[in-house]
Amino acid sequence: MLRWLTAGESHGPELTAVLEGLPAGVPVTTEALNISLARRRFGYGRGARMKIEQDQLRITGGVRHGLSMGGPISIVIENTEWDKWIEIMSPDPVDSSTLTGARAEPLTRPRPGHADFTGMQKYGFIESRPVLERASARETAARVALGSIVESFLAELGISVVTHTVSIGKISGGDLLPKPTDVVDLDEDPVRAFDTKLSQAMVEEIDQAHKDGDTLGGVVEVLVYGMPPGVGSYVHWDRRLDGRLAGALMSIQAIKGVAVGDGFESATRRGSEAHDEMQLTDGLVARITDRAGGIEGGMSNGEIIRVRAAMKPISTVPRALKTIDVATGEESTAHHQRSDVCAVPAAGVVAQAMVSLTIADAVLEKFGGDSVAETKRNLASYLESIPANLKSKIVS
Ligand SMILES: Cc1cc2nc3c(=O)[nH]c(=O)nc-3n(C[C@H](O)[C@H](O)[C@H](O)COP(=O)(O)O)c2cc1C
Repeated sequence: MLRWLTAGESHGPELTAVLEGLPAGVPVTTEALNISLARRRFGYGRGARMKIEQDQLRITGGVRHGLSMGGPISIVIENTEWDKWIEIMSPDPVDSSTLTGARAEPLTRPRPGHADFTGMQKYGFIESRPVLERASARETAARVALGSIVESFLAELGISVVTHTVSIGKISGGDLLPKPTDVVDLDEDPVRAFDTKLSQAMVEEIDQAHKDGDTLGGVVEVLVYGMPPGVGSYVHWDRRLDGRLAGALMSIQAIKGVAVGDGFESATRRGSEAHDEMQLTDGLVARITDRAGGIEGGMSNGEIIRVRAAMKPISTVPRALKTIDVATGEESTAHHQRSDVCAVPAAGVVAQAMVSLTIADAVLEKFGGDSVAETKRNLASYLESIPANLKSKIVS
């Protein structure tokens, strides 16, 4: 239903993104998108580059007077440092013998944990610049902007998406669930932790890793409130909501594991302690727990959708890792670029965007609509048509 595509390199002139399939009438403003981009840049443990990178976003198609028009929406995020990179990343041919300065050095010492080496093998590049420019997580700025657009659509349907940090390195315990109204507090927390004691311990952990010349990973959680039941499918493997969410989260750079609901933890329990029993609350069917993370049989069940994503530690370790210099064929140490110590809070913002895009796609598959008003009507009539004995509580 929804299609989206990003283009552009980390130090290219701009990132471009196109979102197709969004109904007309969705509020979309440059200001709202800029707020989302700022949330991605923010987060304790991010490197100097984040302070330099002032995203300059422009909406270039599909929106008029603050509302989507039903056609493809296009955005660009300009590289504010383009003048410094114009020769290195020029799309037009350049005489490479005339290039000077550190940036002109061919990158022949591929970084372990990155796309560098295999990308060179795959595309036949003699250095890793063309690989790392696209593999870099700078691309996620475009995904966050698109996520922000669809979040606005979901909000029109009463669906809200929240992210928080569950663990950084060995500091974990983020089991309290923030509500949509807690977003302001989360935005102010340096690591997007909901529990302030946890937040302080996480900041200290990042400081220690920084002192030790090392990096950290962690786990983020995304929660979806107000999700109507029956979105997704049990009849086709590729329409299952859990599968789609897992794929979307795993597509984020450095995400190496996904859990839906209690995930791996539930594999350690007995069946009697692993599922969500039903009861009647105010005449509606409701769950006593939400261990399944709001998804059963590949469909939303009206509870809070809860997914976690595990991020590996940043691969660009300041104490450079061993590699091979492909120019000399000798053992060496990896190139070191300006890099984050920990990008877990930022990864949470990207995860929120990918979850929002996936949920919006599945919502449109079920309810359709060329305008938001039409989607709303379809949703309302579906909920109304559910027989009284099958009506269930939607947690919002
Ligand atoms: C928001 C975000 C920021 C990142 N920042 C860095 C960084 O500063 N340095 C780094 O080496 N990797 C960073 N990464 C991870 C790399 O992009 C990623 O590990 C690399 O592209 C290889 O992909 P893979 O880990 O999925 O195999 C970041 C990832 C995300 C999601």
